[in-house]
Formats: sequence, C-alpha cells, structure tokens
Amino acid sequence: MEIKVYPSLLSADLLNMERSIEIVKDLSDALHVDIMDGHFVPNLSYGPSLVKALRNRYSIPLNVHLMVEKPENFVDMFIEAGASHLGFHVEATHHPQRLLKYIRDHNIRPFITLNPATPLNTIEYLLGELDMVLIMTVNPGYGGQEFLHFSLKKIKSLREMAVKEGINLDIMVDGGIDLHTAPLVIEAGANVLISGNSIFNSENPREVIIKMKSIRYK
Ligand code: DX5
Ligand code: ZN
Repeated sequence: MEIKVYPSLLSADLLNMERSIEIVKDLSDALHVDIMDGHFVPNLSYGPSLVKALRNRYSIPLNVHLMVEKPENFVDMFIEAGASHLGFHVEATHHPQRLLKYIRDHNIRPFITLNPATPLNTIEYLLGELDMVLIMTVNPGYGGQEFLHFSLKKIKSLREMAVKEGINLDIMVDGGIDLHTAPLVIEAGANVLISGNSIFNSENPREVIIKMKSIRYK
C-alpha cells in the first residue's frame, strides 16, 4: 500500500507559511489544516479565510480537519473556501451520516474523525459511506504531543473491518507521528500519515517526508 503524507500546517512557520509550504509541497499528497473552536478542543487556530487563501494559491489537495462543536454549522464556509477533504469528529454532532452525505453531495471527500478514547463501533454502520477515516493518536488541540500507543489497537481493528467489508479505506493518523511511530501505525494498517512537529520542526523536512513515504508494510 502506498504511504501518503499530509504535513500539518499547525507546526508551519506562521509568519512564513508560504516558505514552509514551498519546502514540502511537491513531496506532499495534501496539506492538513486544523480548525479549532476553543470548545471542542481547548485551543483556537484559524478559519475559512486561510483555506481560501491556500486554495487560491496552490493546487495541492487541502485536508481540512474540523475540531469544532456542531460541525454542521461550519461546513458550508469550508466547502465555499475550497476544502478538498472535509472531516469532522463523530463526538461533535448528533447526525454524522447526514453531514457526511451533505459534504459528499458538494463533491468534497468527507471523512470522520475519532478521538483516542472513542470506540470504533461509533462508526461501524457508517463505514459503507466512507473512504477516509482519521484516527487521532493524541487528544486533539495542540501540535507536538506524545503519541498514544493504545491507538494502535484501534487502527488494526479498523483495517480488519475495512478488509472484511471489502472497503478500500484511507486510514489517516494524526498526532505524534514521527519516524519512530510511523512504522508502528503503518504496521497496524494506517496508510496516511499526518504530521506537524516532526516535519516542520526538523532540520530537514523534505528528508523526513521522503523517509516516511518509503516505509513499507512488512
Ligand atoms: C492536533 C492536530 C494535529 C497536529 C499534529 O490536534 O489535529 O493535526 O498538528 O501535530 P503533531 O504531528 O505535531 O503531533
Ligand atoms: Zn489535525
């Protein structure tokens, strides 16, 4: 399975975001954009205007991760801004299936995200409607946190479920992914690595991406 890498802009140089993006752009499969509302997670980040500015400048897919309460109140502005993939947390809305369908009806790839403590059975009946799932490997809100090893079990179970159902699922992982944890999540069944700190705060971000993409499932 080909490994994809989506650098997380949360760790990019905020005052030189263009420079950060230029360094990683041609090696990356998408850019990951974290949207935080200060309620669902205890932090604030940026909004649709950044997504729009990125969309106007770059053709690379934009993977937008909504960490907001009631994402149904926010999806239109991110659809309009030009998100390529738009994901929300299953814990944050009462009607995830309705929202998935709404996003897909706007020709955007929807995805659903699970916090570390959220069991897989919350999305069991949605799997037939999805081709991407994001498994959080830290509690969301901040970059640079330590990978939670118990998430490996969930990644493995999700891959097993997808194989059993015959679904070609992109399993994304987000939080604490570096060159030590990447082989573990890939071995467990993930194929999309979202990574902020270990790419943008490294001496050589390009080398980190190349190494991540060269990891093979053993
Ligand atoms: C955390 C965000 C992540 C974050 C990951 O809440 O969803 O996308 O940028 O950062 P690292 O790779 O530094 O853990
Ligand atoms: Zn994220």
